[in-house]
Amino acid sequence: MISLRMLLVVIGLGLCSVAQAAGVDNHARNMAASCSACHGTDGYSEGGMPVIAGMDKKLFVTTMKDFKSGARPATVMHQHAKGYSDEQIEMLAKFFAAQKRK
Ligand code: HEC
Repeated sequence: MISLRMLLVVIGLGLCSVAQAAGVDNHARNMAASCSACHGTDGYSEGGMPVIAGMDKKLFVTTMKDFKSGARPATVMHQHAKGYSDEQIEMLAKFFAAQKRK
């Protein structure tokens, strides 16, 4: 059975190619949308999850790579981090770092 996550990724990729064709880079935003279920829209979490909006770019990259390798303990982030390439993590880092903290 195709998982919802896979479906979202497929839709995301579709949207990305449309955005690229239009000359707009929405790739990072589309990837970030999959984090919003827990971390809130654009990383402004309100439900006790860590706020990742405005997170330092370097810290974000290190944290995600540590989740990916398992070096940093986590409940769910190991699974999420493993789904992204280093290049995609850089894009996400840039996106979230650009969101101002409220
Ligand atoms: C299912 C809920 C969920 C989703 C979806 C999710 N996260 Fe997380 N995130 C967490 C939890 C819970 C933690 C705390 C560590 C742990 O227990 O895994 C966390 C921690 C983090 C941290 C560390 C924050 C800090 O201040 O230490 C970062 C960075 C992060 N997530 C990024 C992301 C990114 C980027 C995505 C999307 C690709 C994402 N998360 C998707 C639940 C989620």
